[in-house]
Amino acid sequence: MTLRSVILGTGSALPRRRVDNAELATMVDTSDEWIVERTGIRTRYVAGEGESTTTLAAEASRHALEMAGLQAADIDLIILATATPDQTFPASATTVQAALGINDCIAFDVAAVCSGFLYAMTVADNMLRGGAGKTALVIGAETFSRILDWEDRTTCVLFGDGAGAAVLRAEETPAEGGRGILASKLHADGRHNGLLHVDGGPSSTGTVGKVRMKGQDVFRHAVVNLAQVMKEVLDVAGLSTSDIDWVVPHQANARILDATARKLGLDPAQVVVTVDRHANTSAASVPLALDTAVRDGRIKQGDLVVLEAMGGGFTWGACVLRY
Ligand code: UT7
Repeated sequence: MTLRSVILGTGSALPRRRVDNAELATMVDTSDEWIVERTGIRTRYVAGEGESTTTLAAEASRHALEMAGLQAADIDLIILATATPDQTFPASATTVQAALGINDCIAFDVAAVCSGFLYAMTVADNMLRGGAGKTALVIGAETFSRILDWEDRTTCVLFGDGAGAAVLRAEETPAEGGRGILASKLHADGRHNGLLHVDGGPSSTGTVGKVRMKGQDVFRHAVVNLAQVMKEVLDVAGLSTSDIDWVVPHQANARILDATARKLGLDPAQVVVTVDRHANTSAASVPLALDTAVRDGRIKQGDLVVLEAMGGGFTWGACVLRY
């Protein structure tokens, strides 16, 4: 038997307001046709009054706990991945902790932008297996709408708001064929800051700043890095692409999803796609897509699932697990 972190439940949350491409075309010089053809995005959700990264995160967490059949008091560790915290400090994880009514547990944020959920899961997995606790709540939550330049058509059409969560529990599982996280691989290369970043921050400009991206350059790096890190993580787990049941990728652009699947020789039907509905929700996109495919019955217990993401930094990573 081997101690592994098993996903017991997933949950997600979206803001009330849905914005379609036609509405954006009234705000900037764009069209439904351009957005669908270049990105696959048709709608995205935008947070309104009373909605924030932590309200969405708390709602997603409640759904995940419910699926897991656990109470908030069972949580030993909360890791929240976000680039859009409610406040510069304290960590949004502690706001979620209070909202869930947990008085004492470990709680902190990780900042790895679109790869944030992969980073948070990997840290949680290592902490659980290292004995820091038995049960973790791992969340990806964002309100990118609040850091978009709504006059910049090259970025404002691409992103949306939302949250996804997973409850992980350390369990002894059979070494061969057991459930849980089998391997993770993370990377970062800080030389690419200029290709995807926010042009402000507390210690530089004293302002929050807006998202800036050189989309074509990011696209090129994404396809190469994602295919590579997926191969790497499968190697570590002693598996090959033919073993995979589902890929749950970061949802940045439908063309990146297609190109990565092609590069790995995967059937596009094995790739969970939500970018059409949610757009790019940064750290929330992987857990939102995971929850979608779990709840619609595609991902079943025992399936081999690969999660992958790439984002600002650059940061990128992949994780292979038996659900
Ligand atoms: O989450 C982190 C990871 N992020 C990503 O992976 C994003 C990766 N990049 C992409 O998804 C794509 O590069 C974009 C969707 C951002 C852009 O697609 P593209 O096919 O690379 O377009 P482009 O940047 O080469 O722009 C083509 C044309 C330009 O016009 P000109 O110079 O050819 O006249 C742009 O100005 O499309 C124009 N354009 C638009 N037109 C209508 C850019 N944005 C828009 C728009 N509506 N919203």
